[in-house]
Amino acid sequence: MTDVQPRKILITSALPYANGPIHLGHLLEYIQTDIWSRFQKSRGHQCHYVCADDAHGTAIMLRAEREGITPEQLIARISEEHQADFADFKIQFDNYGSTHSEENRELSSYIYKQCRDKGHIATRSITQAFDPEQNLFLADRYIKGECPKCGTDDQYGDNCEACGATYSPAELKNAKSVISGATPIQKDSEHYFFKLTDFQDFLKGWTKAGHLQDSVSNKLQEWLDSGLQDWDISRDAPYFGFEIPDAPGKYFYVWLDAPIGYMASFKALCDREGIDFDEYWKPGSETELYHFIGKDIINFHALFWPAMLECSGFRTPTAVNAHGFVTVDGAKMSKSRGTFIKARTFIDHVNPEALRYYFAAKLGSGVDDFDLNFEDFIQRVNADLVNKYVNIASRCAGFVKKAGGELSANVAEPEMLQSFIDAGDQIAEYYEAREFGKATKLIMELADRANEYIQTKEPWALAKKEGTAQEVLDICSMGINLFRQITIYLSPVLPEMAEKVQAFMNLENLNWESRKTILTGHAINKFKPLMQRVEGAQIEKMKEATITDLEAEKALAEKSIGGTEATSNKHLEETPIADEITFDDFAKVDMRVALIENAEHVKGANKLLQLTLDLGGEKRNVFAGIKSAYAPEDLIGRKTILVANLAPRKMKFGMSEGMVMAAGPGGKEIYLFSPDDGAEPGMRIF
Ligand code: MSP
Ligand code: ZN
Repeated sequence: MTDVQPRKILITSALPYANGPIHLGHLLEYIQTDIWSRFQKSRGHQCHYVCADDAHGTAIMLRAEREGITPEQLIARISEEHQADFADFKIQFDNYGSTHSEENRELSSYIYKQCRDKGHIATRSITQAFDPEQNLFLADRYIKGECPKCGTDDQYGDNCEACGATYSPAELKNAKSVISGATPIQKDSEHYFFKLTDFQDFLKGWTKAGHLQDSVSNKLQEWLDSGLQDWDISRDAPYFGFEIPDAPGKYFYVWLDAPIGYMASFKALCDREGIDFDEYWKPGSETELYHFIGKDIINFHALFWPAMLECSGFRTPTAVNAHGFVTVDGAKMSKSRGTFIKARTFIDHVNPEALRYYFAAKLGSGVDDFDLNFEDFIQRVNADLVNKYVNIASRCAGFVKKAGGELSANVAEPEMLQSFIDAGDQIAEYYEAREFGKATKLIMELADRANEYIQTKEPWALAKKEGTAQEVLDICSMGINLFRQITIYLSPVLPEMAEKVQAFMNLENLNWESRKTILTGHAINKFKPLMQRVEGAQIEKMKEATITDLEAEKALAEKSIGGTEATSNKHLEETPIADEITFDDFAKVDMRVALIENAEHVKGANKLLQLTLDLGGEKRNVFAGIKSAYAPEDLIGRKTILVANLAPRKMKFGMSEGMVMAAGPGGKEIYLFSPDDGAEPGMRIF
């Protein structure tokens, strides 16, 4: 190692929950971490990258129950799925464990007992909502009811999506358990607390000591200044997790043993490969520890976790690296828009390395959200990888092959090659600082230079002339050498590509250091295309598959636990079917297809929108109580159904001439009817 001293590095990504599939949002994190880890390994450092499934908690327990299997069976299946996804995205974990492991049980007990024996655990009774049918204490997200402030129905136990109010679940009106539908009761129970308040001063120092990004550190100062609270670390049975030592019926809250899962996964690796666990975890350790996480779980990693480690006599992280959230085409990933894309669906349609490259090309070291824009994705991947990078090899390889398959013994442009080698230092600095976007930009500048070189030399034109064989070989050997440099720099991002290039060029490795050797007289193999262009049709198919998938999932969810029964019964119960009528009665109602020509807010009206409807010749003015569910601009131009012969009604705001038809209980849940395509304004509905 001539570049740098070998370092001992332990890297983690957050542990994905074992109750759902890996999706593109998750992948930003695992790809970011994997690139960093592969970079460190390429530099010759002793680097271990571990992860695990986060297997505990109520959600997993309930899902297993719904599927009629044990939690152990569920987490085993999900773990396999997760690992298959990661493998296909070339995420190279040195160990992938589970928080439901013996190592984790032992370490969690140990850490808990250390904290308890040092007086940092307290117990006290708390009152909480309880589901008397399911015999289960209910976290806020398992309770729904009417908002105490604005009365909107179907709001979660802690905040209202309609008016933004926050409250305690006890204040909800007509509260219901989401799990059983029962009305929750209030019940007392003894809980265990980690006295985070004892670590206020420690955390004030730690969060400012260079372990966090500046913006994260600043945000946490605000928190710390407003005062910490003790952390509730116990949950009552039934719970899927570890029972607390000496507290029968009490379990560790999932977030207590989740970060300890990092240690446990590493412990399994140490036991398997003879690595010294304590060297990495003892206080004052000279090894480095990095956690890569999303910005939503900063508190757990930058407050609770360092405090627990400090409390129980372990080292604290070198750095916690947070990233932002993935949005797709400018919006939050959404199931209904087909942008909540699973890792598996992506792999089924698009080359995973294209995503690795796109993430790298746009990632910085900050916590800004990341927009995955598919048009930009296609353009970027094709332009950079196919047109620039792979192009270098495909322009040169054939000529080398024709000349016998060996690179020239001459180095045509030693200075140019040296400058490519030198560029490796700056690129390494960018990788180290997690400025992958800057690294790829520099690498693509090298690719541009390599292409310019070949373009100027025109080996294809030269080859047509007499006596130029050596010159052509020299030029193309330069091209291949430059291509290899670039491959070394890209290899943390494109490991599969790197493998292919290694095979094509007969290379022992593509480590960072290997960039310094220049290949002369070296035999290469037949060139095969290294990467296909990404086509728009692939993306379309992927989005379609996402929507089909979602529909299948919904159908499945409704089948299990009698979901269909439950939902239909609810509506029929709330609005029972009305008394029978004759056909003649029905025929009196004249319903027409109407085009919404205009829609606007009504000054002073909370619930109404004013609609101008076109019935194909005749216009109607209608006030409709749908403001809580629709924005006027979303309605203009769409067709709906109007009860056209309803007696006009005089309202405070004007005359309403008919009624548009919609379903749903109200609030956000109002669903306006639309006719199928082809129906024209004025058509009567029977
Ligand atoms: N189980 C916890 C982590 C425990 S770590 C001791 C958890 N799991 S998760 O499955 O919800 O998320 C795993 C990681 O993926 C988190 O770091 C989270 O921030 C990240 N992401 C999940 N959705 C994401 C996006 N849409 N975008 C970017 N990262 C996202 O949290
Ligand atoms: Zn409200």
